[in-house]
Amino acid sequence: MNGMAIALGDANDLLTEVEDSSVDLIATDPPYEINFANNAWDKPNGLNWDYLAKQFRRVMKPSGNLIIFQGWSCVSETKSVLDKHFFLKNWIIYDRIKGRGAKTNVVSTREDILWYVADESSYTFNKINSTIKKKTKGMGLRNGNTFRALSNVWTDVPPVVPWSRERVDHPTQKPLFLMDRIISIWSNEGDVVLDPFMGSGTTAVACRNLGREFIGFEVDKQYFSISKERIDGCGRLI
Ligand SMILES: C[S@@+](CC[C@H](N)C(=O)[O-])C[C@H]1O[C@@H](n2cnc3c(N)ncnc32)[C@H](O)[C@@H]1O
Repeated sequence: MNGMAIALGDANDLLTEVEDSSVDLIATDPPYEINFANNAWDKPNGLNWDYLAKQFRRVMKPSGNLIIFQGWSCVSETKSVLDKHFFLKNWIIYDRIKGRGAKTNVVSTREDILWYVADESSYTFNKINSTIKKKTKGMGLRNGNTFRALSNVWTDVPPVVPWSRERVDHPTQKPLFLMDRIISIWSNEGDVVLDPFMGSGTTAVACRNLGREFIGFEVDKQYFSISKERIDGCGRLI
């Protein structure tokens, strides 16, 4: 493949068309299966994680990474399946800042990002710093590092708000800054990145901007055309 390959359809079927050991990074934000905003695509128990994990493992190169978003209420179950097929390298907590459901509960701004590898001794990892300035005068500061090292708690990602220039019509759009960060850390230029649940195509846009090849699937026609429009750069700011 060369460039951007996106398809409208069910990831369960389309994944079977991806070649064995052909993907460097799977970076995906699947439904959290919580019936979010009554969306049909987010129905509880809608995904067969055992099947998906096997497909992910099959298509991933031996040195590949899997970065997968989860919510607090589904992460344990999904993780228990993925743990059988991959090695867990880290578990990042990302503060979405924009919360949901505050009236009868604490506000949920937490998202979980699981980082898995196929081979614990060989995987792509490009170390970067956070965008948070150091407050103390440690060695790092003297060596010219003004920003804190990136930890497994991410609080420095600007949210997508209704007035953001990148905003499109998808209820769970991820910030481009966030996907740029993920693609930069866990893949190299020219690598193949797969997002089987691409939504409005934020992963695709990051890949296009950073010189990665991209394979993406989306089952919803409207979201698929938003992705296409963003990738083509027709009129929307991305
Ligand atoms: C959480 S959203 C992804 C949002 C995306 N990260 C963005 O920035 O726009 C998950 C997407 O997966 C899609 N989806 C759900 N089930 C699917 C399936 N079986 N195959 C392909 N896409 C699916 C939904 O339509 C939804 O757009």
